[in-house]
Amino acid sequence: MRLFFALWPDDAVRAQLAHWSRELHGVCRGRLMRPENLHMTLAFLGNVDDARVAEVERAAGEVTRRAATLVLDQPGYWKHNRIAWAGASVVPGQLDAMAADLRDALTRSNIGFDAKPFVSHVTLLRDAREAKAMPALAPIDWRFDAFALVQSVTLPRGSGYEIRKSWKG
Ligand code: 2AM
Repeated sequence: MRLFFALWPDDAVRAQLAHWSRELHGVCRGRLMRPENLHMTLAFLGNVDDARVAEVERAAGEVTRRAATLVLDQPGYWKHNRIAWAGASVVPGQLDAMAADLRDALTRSNIGFDAKPFVSHVTLLRDAREAKAMPALAPIDWRFDAFALVQSVTLPRGSGYEIRKSWKG
């Protein structure tokens, strides 16, 4: 099954992210992520054998849960994958530490994941174009105290995500 670890927004943060995505869509076009799918990936595992999921969950259980407020205050754009995203000008140390601890725990348990360094971002649009100027958007305060193991499932309307388990501080 296809798995990743993520920060999962509550409904209020999700609504604000969805608002950002509609605003950005006005200038960047592309495909809007469905609001229910919005998240911040901490580690992307990809396909994992069913037999190893318990190990993945055990590894995650070793990670110190941390809490902080992530302020999403800058939209960004990556040319290489044509993604428009929500990002933070200041990333709380607790978030970087939690992503690093999680990746260390996976490595100790020999569980593979995409080794690209963690860059905190929420993908809002795919196949987007670069805007001359990004719109000004109201900052989003995202208080987090948990992370989740998420399964990607194929639905008739595209991919959907289901939280398998979450670890709260
Ligand atoms: P992205 O939004 O920046 O594309 C589910 O696919 C989530 O895992 C997405 O948030 C995606 O990030 C992230 N991800 C990280 N590495 C990935 C990879 N190698 N393949 C697919 N998704 C990846």
